[in-house]
Amino acid sequence: MSANKDAIGLPLAQLETPALCLDLDAYRRNVKRMAGYITAKHGLAWRPHMKGQKAPPLAKEAVAAGAIGVTCATLYEAEAMVAAGVGNVLIANQVAGERKLRRLARLAGKAPIIAATDSEDHARAMNAAAEAEGVKVHVLIEVDVGMNRCGIAPGEPTVALAKTITTLPGLHLSGLMGWEGHVLAYEGDAKQEQISGSIGRLTETAGMCRARGIPIEIVSASGSGTFRMSAPLSGLTEVQAGGGVFSDLSYEKWGLDHEFALTILTRVVSRPSATRIIVDGGFKTMSVQHGQPKPLGVGPIKSLVLSAEHGNIEVAEADDRHRVGDTVTFIPGYTDSTVCLHDEMCVLSDGVLVDVWAIPGRTGRR
Ligand SMILES: Cc1ncc(COP(=O)(O)O)c(C=O)c1O
Repeated sequence: MSANKDAIGLPLAQLETPALCLDLDAYRRNVKRMAGYITAKHGLAWRPHMKGQKAPPLAKEAVAAGAIGVTCATLYEAEAMVAAGVGNVLIANQVAGERKLRRLARLAGKAPIIAATDSEDHARAMNAAAEAEGVKVHVLIEVDVGMNRCGIAPGEPTVALAKTITTLPGLHLSGLMGWEGHVLAYEGDAKQEQISGSIGRLTETAGMCRARGIPIEIVSASGSGTFRMSAPLSGLTEVQAGGGVFSDLSYEKWGLDHEFALTILTRVVSRPSATRIIVDGGFKTMSVQHGQPKPLGVGPIKSLVLSAEHGNIEVAEADDRHRVGDTVTFIPGYTDSTVCLHDEMCVLSDGVLVDVWAIPGRTGRR
């Protein structure tokens, strides 16, 4: 049941709280900057990661702004995108398990889907599902560019896997991908050096494959905290940066200067003292992954404690501005881990609610 669909046309302050709010105008300005930098300035394709955005209308907005398609983290996210009419989806993750691989093959029969793999065992399992379904699944080999998460080692191990994949009739090797997420916290020259090293491992491996006669059409990498430094490097064909369309305190810390387009609207429910403001949003509303959210419009804060459904703000000086029923807006610490706490996103333009978007694929089925 939607909390705010019946509030379309009303100003922000009249929304039911807590509410996840998208400033459509700021979001569109962020999208324009990202698309412009990646596509117009550096001539790369943009395939924004939707793992933190989730709502299919956001994918459609990105495609309208020049994205070639989207990147997803889960099969369910990809299914939601295809159901909403967004084609050309990269699942930048290893889909595993017989039944899930069957789902993947079925989806690949409906829309252009590319899935990641990083081992012969996994590639063979995916091939079996594709053959059983009578489809060809397009794949990118995930290369470990230094993050030590998934991914096969760059160089010869990748070339060997690429060769094997070209012999599997249910698969089509489209290229390579990597994610240099381990360098996010670096700054300045050290960050550039780390990014160049990581992307270099990926692009050199693509070159090795091509030199052995294995066509590599796609070389995909990078996120919102790295794309400004990776896009100018040669050898990438596309960029996966996604969450920067919202921005948040984490992306800001990682060097992104975008507008904060996504916020959380809460309401004051109690004023137990002149220095304590209690709002109706706690850790079930706002994530603390990568850092706390930040309330706007309150004075210097002594502490912010989030319990399940309460935000407990202790301000340094007595505050008589915030009364019970007033609203307090927070900038998320990290939008990716905040969006998935909500059923819907309230879309505002000029401070007025213009739409409410469902957020599918946030829990349960992956
Ligand atoms: C595979 C992959 N690509 C790219 C990214 C970057 O995504 P974003 O730009 O939304 O931070 C991530 C982030 O976790 C990722 O896992």
